[in-house]
Amino acid sequence: MLEYKTEVWPVDKKIAEDENCPQITQASLWIKKNEVIAFPTETVYGLGGNAKSDAAIEKIFLAKGRPSDNPLIVHVASREQLIGMVSSIPERAKKLMDAFWPGPLTLVLPKGEDVSERVTAGLSTVAVRMPDHPVALKLIKECGLPLAAPSANVSGRPSPTTAQHVHEDLNGRIPGILDGGVTGVGVESTVVDCTAETLVILRPGGVTKEQLEVVAGETMMDPGLLNEQAAPKSPGMKYTHYAPNAPLFLVDGSPSFLQELVDKQKGAGLKTGVLTTEENAPFYKADAVIPCGSRGKLESVAHHLYDALRAFNESGVDIIYGEVFPKSGVGAAIMNRLEKSAGGQIIKE
Ligand code: TXA
Ligand code: MG
Repeated sequence: MLEYKTEVWPVDKKIAEDENCPQITQASLWIKKNEVIAFPTETVYGLGGNAKSDAAIEKIFLAKGRPSDNPLIVHVASREQLIGMVSSIPERAKKLMDAFWPGPLTLVLPKGEDVSERVTAGLSTVAVRMPDHPVALKLIKECGLPLAAPSANVSGRPSPTTAQHVHEDLNGRIPGILDGGVTGVGVESTVVDCTAETLVILRPGGVTKEQLEVVAGETMMDPGLLNEQAAPKSPGMKYTHYAPNAPLFLVDGSPSFLQELVDKQKGAGLKTGVLTTEENAPFYKADAVIPCGSRGKLESVAHHLYDALRAFNESGVDIIYGEVFPKSGVGAAIMNRLEKSAGGQIIKE
């Protein structure tokens, strides 16, 4: 593994479009040399490299330890930058761009000629999105290149929502991190397949099914997301993901049922953790009770989710029990990520 002295470059996330920013200039110089750097987006931090360069994309996969059959999302700062990245843009995709770009919606479209084959893992399609973050947009503009960027975590770990998370995972593996503070949405973009007759959600995320339906009409969840038997169409969805070090079990039941499970493990001498919400946190007695947002406001749960999952690693617990959430709105994305972190282990009361 290449060794870098990883620099952290603080940037103001409210930076104006025409303001000079030496940190972003420095980051873009690395990108132009086909090196990779981490940057904030409105969802999670990304690890960006020149989408046209095999050498740069190779470095992304190496730094993350990511399986090479899992394709990356190409990030653009303008629709002009899609030229060469995609070969056509169906009418429905244009409508979705009008409604949700810049923002947490990734569109899967027919691949263009200039995208590195390494980005798409040999698929005939490419995933593209325009992030809603001044630092990301300025970086992409300044290097004048579309950036392929997965989440900036080591493969399998929760996605990073702070520069500190990125540093924990990638220190020494990349030249630098643009630190724009905590990200907003907290879970990744929604990935939709725009190549089929009906719009299909391949990964639930920041833009909800309900919001998509208003613009694109009938929208369905990829059957692979709902049913363990069907293979998911988004290659990334088949890997274990977002996992804390200790095993996580989701508990579909009352807080007192969850507490009973905790008590049993305590009796067996294990250190226990509970992933909960502000409302229920005072109820639990465990070694680490970590609330992620408020149950009454699912956006706040999405915002705090990955930070909470990472916090269990510092607390050194042996086993974690987590509450479940309704699967409507952004709850679909929250439960998708929680089910992945739990490896599908759900205990019903
Ligand atoms: O919010 C986000 O989307 C963040 C930020 C950094 O933009 N990025 C992100 O990238 O989450 P990553 O690599 O962690 O996830 C990309 C997802 C994976 O599930 C991958 O399989 C899917 O998008 N994907 C990429 N290209 C695809 C394609 N051509 N067809 C189907 N799925 C694709
Ligand atoms: Mg990821």
